Amino acid sequence: MTKTRAAITGINTWVPEYRLTNAELETMVDTNDEWIQSRTGVQERRILKGKDQGTSAMAIPAVKGLLEKTGTDPKDIELVICATVTPDMQFPATANIISDKCGMVNAFSFDLNAACSGFIDALTTASMYIESGRYKKVVVIGADKMSSIIDYTDRATCIIFGDAAGAVLMEPNDEGYGLIDHRLYTDGSGMVHLHQKAGGSRRPATHETVDAREHYVYQEGAAVFKFAVTKMAEVSEEVMERNNLTADDVAYLVPHQANKRIIDATASRMGVSEDKVMLNIMRYGNTTNGTIPLCLHEWESKLKKGDNLIISAFGGGFTWGALYLKWAYDTPE
Ligand code: UT7
Repeated sequence: MTKTRAAITGINTWVPEYRLTNAELETMVDTNDEWIQSRTGVQERRILKGKDQGTSAMAIPAVKGLLEKTGTDPKDIELVICATVTPDMQFPATANIISDKCGMVNAFSFDLNAACSGFIDALTTASMYIESGRYKKVVVIGADKMSSIIDYTDRATCIIFGDAAGAVLMEPNDEGYGLIDHRLYTDGSGMVHLHQKAGGSRRPATHETVDAREHYVYQEGAAVFKFAVTKMAEVSEEVMERNNLTADDVAYLVPHQANKRIIDATASRMGVSEDKVMLNIMRYGNTTNGTIPLCLHEWESKLKKGDNLIISAFGGGFTWGALYLKWAYDTPE
């Protein structure tokens, strides 16, 4: 009997209209287009503007579009997981807000925080619920309004990040398609290199924390880069080896879009050529939990049923991992 696997059966994304270009950043901090493009690959990022607009403001249209596109009745959704580091509020979970606004009234929902690896951790979590046989329709969201925690006076971080949301529908598949394997890692000692100092229970918001700009992303870029470049490549290769996949067997590498140089190193370690690498960091920057759905959605029409995808990520925590997913559908013309 074929094992029941969790397959992605639909995908949708939503990005804000506003484009923050390298030229505009040049007017905000001491930087230049050449530096940004050569060190990161980013040309522009989307920024969510408007009062009281949180991560859910992007995730709601992404999910509504997903449900419409897949012809799914929101009442049939049983579980909603939202991977985010920028929830609308400390609580309740942003997933609850999204469920309410999208009419997914029969679902239970929760947020998952594994920084930039959140979306692959959430796909894996959802797959466990589905493989158990108990859940049949799960929505997994990756969404972040990074502009809400970025210091636009810090040239080392503000040039990288952007805002976006994506969502997938996951359903059981008995034909061998879907999530085949995963390898996920955490090294909490990496916390010192990448974190947000204040706003949690350890350092709740005070005038002092605000004055000290402690509610923004703190990143020691070079240290994070060193780990990311090694770990994302290592884990991607590990998942290929565990599943006896050669570079020829891999249709696409779907990498978290943190830095083009990290992506190039991962592809090179896997022996995968450039044309098989999903890359859109130029247009969106690092949208944390949004990067992988943004890639999958953009490439959706090119993906064929049975395509072998290696999806890999690295992020704060440190957290990192890779998934082996067999794409489950051809996009109708
Ligand atoms: O997705 C979550 C995980 N995060 C990541 O994976 C990010 C990993 N890290 C990176 O992508 C890179 O480290 C950065 C893009 C953040 C920085 O690139 P880098 O090549 O590691 O630069 P650096 O931090 O080592 O800085 C090199 C120089 C420094 O100047 P000095 O000390 O050599 O004079 C920086 O002050 O570049 C300077 N610099 C800049 N110059 C122009 C830093 N930011 C900028 C900038 N424009 N925006």
